[in-house]
Amino acid sequence: MMIKKILILVDNYVWFLYDIRGFCLIVDPGLSEPVIQLIEKEKWQPRAILLTHNHIDHTGGVQKIVERFPQITVFGPKETKQYGVNKIVTEGDKIIILDKIFYVFFTPGHTSGHVSYYSNPYLFCGDTLFSGGCGRVYLNKYLEMYNSIQKISSLPNNTFLCCSHEYTVSNLKFSIFLCPDDKLINLYFEKIKNRLILGKSSLPSYILFEKKVNLFLRTNEDSLKRAMGLKNSCTSFEVFLNLRLKKDFWS
Ligand SMILES: [Fe+2]
Ligand SMILES: [Fe+2]
Repeated sequence: MMIKKILILVDNYVWFLYDIRGFCLIVDPGLSEPVIQLIEKEKWQPRAILLTHNHIDHTGGVQKIVERFPQITVFGPKETKQYGVNKIVTEGDKIIILDKIFYVFFTPGHTSGHVSYYSNPYLFCGDTLFSGGCGRVYLNKYLEMYNSIQKISSLPNNTFLCCSHEYTVSNLKFSIFLCPDDKLINLYFEKIKNRLILGKSSLPSYILFEKKVNLFLRTNEDSLKRAMGLKNSCTSFEVFLNLRLKKDFWS
């Protein structure tokens, strides 16, 4: 399987997996036109759409894409039903697309029904985890979000994180504000700034690297607790909660 992405709206990515036969799947198409254009240019035959959650910047293109390619199956959690989903997925489901197994993980927190899709080595995690950060938590589901991120971090270290937004620079600015002496985060920030200036992307990242540069995956580190003015006795979840709230007010 090969992977490609396009940038739409302001900072959303639509991801595509495709194979040598020209079959493809589409993840979170927030718009239809650029997706249809790419499929026609590449002469792909789209087989499926995977939706992670019910926000319009992830679902807005589904209807017109299905009108153009009616053979597509649309997979998504229950909360996306109104966007043309014809196969509802939930935790533990294994779905076969392009002859590959996709495992469905329930990853709530950003929305109450958010799911992620894993097919080795790719994880499509929507708005749950970003490079250097994590998604906003709505409906007060902080513990759910924490557990979702822990679940993602338990996947193999070489898993590619195919996140839905280009938020890396802003995430790293916040991390540097909190941990100004963190060498790796500073180096990563400089590298990504330059990549974006050249019109490139920061994604996909991968799990082993995020465990080093993403503070939301380092919530059990004493140095982070110190940097945040928290007691050493704070639990990993308490650090996560503080971090997420700080980030909400910071940006
Ligand atoms: Fe979202
Ligand atoms: Fe989003």
